[in-house]
Amino acid sequence: MFNLVLFGPPGSGKGTQSENIVKKYQLQHISTGDLLRDEVSRQTTLGTEAKKYMDQGMLVPDEVVIGMISVKIDEAQDARGFIFDGFPRTRTQAEALDKLLEFKNTKIDLVLALEVPEKDLIERLVKRGITSGRSDDNEEVITARIKEYYLKTEPVAQYYSHQEKLERVEGHRPIEDTFNVLGKHINKYLLPIA
Ligand code: AP5
Repeated sequence: MFNLVLFGPPGSGKGTQSENIVKKYQLQHISTGDLLRDEVSRQTTLGTEAKKYMDQGMLVPDEVVIGMISVKIDEAQDARGFIFDGFPRTRTQAEALDKLLEFKNTKIDLVLALEVPEKDLIERLVKRGITSGRSDDNEEVITARIKEYYLKTEPVAQYYSHQEKLERVEGHRPIEDTFNVLGKHINKYLLPIA
């Protein structure tokens, strides 16, 4: 089993690159953002609670997100591996993920951190906001999301750096170029299917 964390600030391309990686390596994609938006659209209790945080660009409480991830890992019995997109976002989440995977006799193998200048992040997300319908794609909330990232999430890179699993990748190049660089890192662990 090969498990990858795709790490980076809002708008750095985690979702975009995850799609490509899933196609090429057939990993099971787990995006906490997508899972939360699904809960919101179904108006579940969890979704209604999460929406209050998401609409302000704040992180949803750790216990909510960790619970969701635990269920998803259990559901994917025969996965070739996982790609975690937008998770973990705090040190508590990173430690919980290590424990969940240890329970399954596996671990995080690689963390690829996409690095993109802040002005490009804002530009991309404002542009996406025109069509996305996402309630957090407006300049005020985007700024809050980026602030929250540097405060609570960026320090998680250190956690993986200490475990010697972190690789930083320039994410401001064209999508295909960035994908090629990500692929070079992944190929050291796993051969592509397609
Ligand atoms: P989430 O959905 O994870 O949002 P995010 O991290 O803000 O990520 P985005 O989806 O906005 O960006 P991305 O990096 O995936 O970039 P994308 O590929 O879309 O989380 C939303 C909210 O949910 C959070 O704010 C929080 O409230 C909550 N949440 C989620 N996970 C949580 C957790 N673990 N704990 C607590 N709370 C959690 O690309 C962005 C745009 O750029 C696209 O339009 C794309 O086409 C374009 N683009 C991508 N790459 C390039 C490129 N190379 N060149 C030009 N354009 C590009």
